[in-house]
Amino acid sequence: MIGRLNHVAIAVPDLAAATSLYRDTLGAKVSDPVAQPDHGVTVVFVELPNTKIELLEPLDEKSPIADFLKRNEVGGVHHVCYEVEDIIAARDQLKENGTRVLGDGEPRIGAHGKPVLFLHPKDFCGTLVEIEQL
Ligand code: CO
Repeated sequence: MIGRLNHVAIAVPDLAAATSLYRDTLGAKVSDPVAQPDHGVTVVFVELPNTKIELLEPLDEKSPIADFLKRNEVGGVHHVCYEVEDIIAARDQLKENGTRVLGDGEPRIGAHGKPVLFLHPKDFCGTLVEIEQL
């Protein structure tokens, strides 16, 4: 069902410091920060040859990642995103197998303008999983 790893998202408390770490210390190609008010985050995209890393900083206290950063003060891996060809077919198959799909179960438009769904971390080895239809 799943295809390529689209990205790994890392929540960070200080986007400028995280950007410097990836750009200057690791020598990666890093985008300018992009505010995504619909998702409550500012994102920096780190382009690697085979995938992307997304550095997420909360826009405000109501951000979905604000609580995560309270539990993980220096930041941490927030989710991984796998590509699927047909998100509705993938969702229906996952639900049949007992996987909990978060929210109302209807895909919404994610950070890249493509439909996404999130799957319950307790059903995936403690990792929040995002699936994205390309
Ligand atoms: Co994501």
